[in-house]
Amino acid sequence: MNENILKLKEWIANSDNVVFFGGAGVSTESGIPDFRSVDGLYNQKWKYPPETILSHSFFERYPEEYYRFHREKLVIDGVQPNRAHLRLAELEREGKLRAVITQNIDGLHQAAGSKNVLELHGSILRAYCSRCRRPYPQEEMNKGTGLPRCSCGGIIRPDIVLYEEPLDQDIVSSAVHYIRNADVLIIGGTSLNVYPAAGLINYYRGNKLALVNLSETPYDHYADLIIHEKIGEVFSQI
Ligand code: OAD
Repeated sequence: MNENILKLKEWIANSDNVVFFGGAGVSTESGIPDFRSVDGLYNQKWKYPPETILSHSFFERYPEEYYRFHREKLVIDGVQPNRAHLRLAELEREGKLRAVITQNIDGLHQAAGSKNVLELHGSILRAYCSRCRRPYPQEEMNKGTGLPRCSCGGIIRPDIVLYEEPLDQDIVSSAVHYIRNADVLIIGGTSLNVYPAAGLINYYRGNKLALVNLSETPYDHYADLIIHEKIGEVFSQI
C-alpha cells in the first residue's frame, strides 16, 4: 500500500474527530462528470458556458434553457454511491467521522447512509417554488418536460445554490465549526477553485490535513499529506 494511504489510515484509526470536505471528484467514480476535468461539464459544448447556465440571472431570464441543461446534464439516472461515499458512511457509524461537508448536489452521501451531511450547494433532490417557496417532489422538476410550474404560477426551481446566490449561512457556520474543531481533515475530489466553499480550508487548525485529489490544487502546499489518486480506490484501502 502507498505510504501516504497507510499514514491516512493510521490517522483515522487514532481519531474520533475526522471531518471530510469534498467536491465533484467524489462522484466521478459513480458516473457523474465533474466540472473542471478535461471531460468535465465545463469542457463540453453548449450554447452558453455551463457556469453561465448555472447562474441566478440566467435561470430568471432563460428558465427553459436552464431546464434543458438541468435535465440533460445534472440529472443522471441510476447513479449509485461508490466506495468513497460508502466508506465515509461507515466511518460515521463507527463513531470516527463527525461530518461530511460537500459541494455536491447529487445526494449520494445520504444514499450511502451518511447522516450528518452539510450540503453547501444544496441538492437536486429537493425542489421549491421560486415565487411562494412551496416545496415540491423532485420528480416534477427532474423528470418532466417543459417548465415545472407551481399552482401559484411560479416556476419550480431546484434547491441548489446557483452562481450569484449566497450560501446558506447556517450551513456555512456549521461547516466552519466542524472544520475548525477537526482533528483529521480530509479534503477530496475538489479543485478548490470555487469560493466561498474553497476558503473553508483556512479554518482548519490541526496538523493532519489530507488532500486526496487526482490533479493538483492551489492548496497542495497547505496539506500535511497529499494523495493524487482516485478517491474511491483510496477509501477502499482505509
Ligand atoms: P471540480 O470539477 O472543479 O473539481 C473536481 C476535482 O476532482 C478535480 O480537481 C479532479 O482532478 C478531481 N477528481 C475527479 N475525479 C476524481 C477521483 N475519482 N478521485 C479524486 N479526485 C478526482 O469540482 P468542484 O471542486 O466540486 O458549483 O467544483 C466546485 C463547484 O464548482 C461545484 O460545486 C459547482 C461548480 O461550479 C456550483 O454549481 C455552485
